[in-house]
Amino acid sequence: TRSVPLAVVPGDGIGPEVVTEGVKVLSAAAARHDVTLETTEYDLGAGRWHATGETLPDTVAEELRGHEAILLGAVGDPSVPSGVLERGLLLRLRFDFAHYVNLRPVKLYPGVHTPLADAAPDDIDMLVVREGTEGPYAGMGGVLRKDTPGEIATQDSVNTRFGVERVVRYAFAKAQARPARRLTLVHKDNVLTYAGELWQRVVREVGAQYPDVAVDYCHVDAATMFFVSQPERFDVVVTDNLFGDIITDLGAAIAGGIGLAASGNINPQREFPSMFEPVHGSAPDIAGQGVADPTATVLSGAAMLEHLGLEAAARQVEAAVAEDLRARAESGSQRSTERVGDDLAKRVVEQG
Ligand code: NAD
Ligand code: IPM
Ligand code: MN
Repeated sequence: TRSVPLAVVPGDGIGPEVVTEGVKVLSAAAARHDVTLETTEYDLGAGRWHATGETLPDTVAEELRGHEAILLGAVGDPSVPSGVLERGLLLRLRFDFAHYVNLRPVKLYPGVHTPLADAAPDDIDMLVVREGTEGPYAGMGGVLRKDTPGEIATQDSVNTRFGVERVVRYAFAKAQARPARRLTLVHKDNVLTYAGELWQRVVREVGAQYPDVAVDYCHVDAATMFFVSQPERFDVVVTDNLFGDIITDLGAAIAGGIGLAASGNINPQREFPSMFEPVHGSAPDIAGQGVADPTATVLSGAAMLEHLGLEAAARQVEAAVAEDLRARAESGSQRSTERVGDDLAKRVVEQG
């Protein structure tokens, strides 16, 4: 029996609700392969901040570091000033643990409703490789002449050759391993000329080593249009941190909704634990009602199992989700968060 030390950060709002179901389903899948997920829960988020003023104490960060992976629900709460938990906890973990790949599949499962009139599952099957540690997220900039009519706020976008190259390399490797072998750089090089030129040049240079991958470029504004009008244009998309944030919510919307959208914050070199979390946030509007869809967390967990080398377990979880989504299309009845988790765990256990 292999034992995997897994840090669990339920967080705020619906975070604890979806993470409970995620752990349930993932543990069931792992158990089928003689693997135990040795979970340790960390109480981080709004509650802790109100009680102690802490977002992520260094001692806790150090403990998290000792795990093989982190499963996170969501952070952010209306009672906490915007950004305190998002920057102090979530982004800090992504930065400290060098999660330079934010991997976000956009995939329409059979039977799932898409708002796109003519799209079939084959048309929506892409992998967004979002840069995770730089861009406007870096926290560079500041405020001058605060509270005067001349106030100036700047928020700089950081793009290092090192940071761009490592994520572009990862994206090319992913593209080469997929049947379509296409990679689209999404940026805004007609306006953000310094950063855009760097991204373009790196894609050109790295691309020279991947002659079998077809390379394309799309401005981010046009990309939002094509996500809706021609999603089949995209296979692997590589993009900057902020553009990737925005287009993956759109990706979630075209592929069945934010309740299904999975993501992994990955450190491919495994110097630090990678962190898996749904694309969605803490959803304060539905928190505590037991109605949040845990599927995004479960699929993020499948990506985690794959990262841990448990490919067969990952495929079982994905197959269980695919079956469940097909069954939903037929029954049409609403289930609670817990019920979806129970049904998924059951399917994982009963699969051949
Ligand atoms: P959100 O994703 O929390 O919610 C957007 C909408 O989607 C809401 O109507 C919500 O009810 C719905 N939704 C989200 N997840 C769902 C699920 N699993 N099942 C069903 N419906 C779901 O985004 P928001 O409202 O912009 O942000 C709320 C808070 O979450 C903010 O504090 C924000 O900073 C934070 N946030 C955190 C993360 C994260 O932890 N990774 C991601 C996004 C937003
Ligand atoms: C996401 C979220 C985060 C982001 C926020 C909460 C910092 O929107 O994971 O997509 O912008 O990356
Ligand atoms: Mn987002």
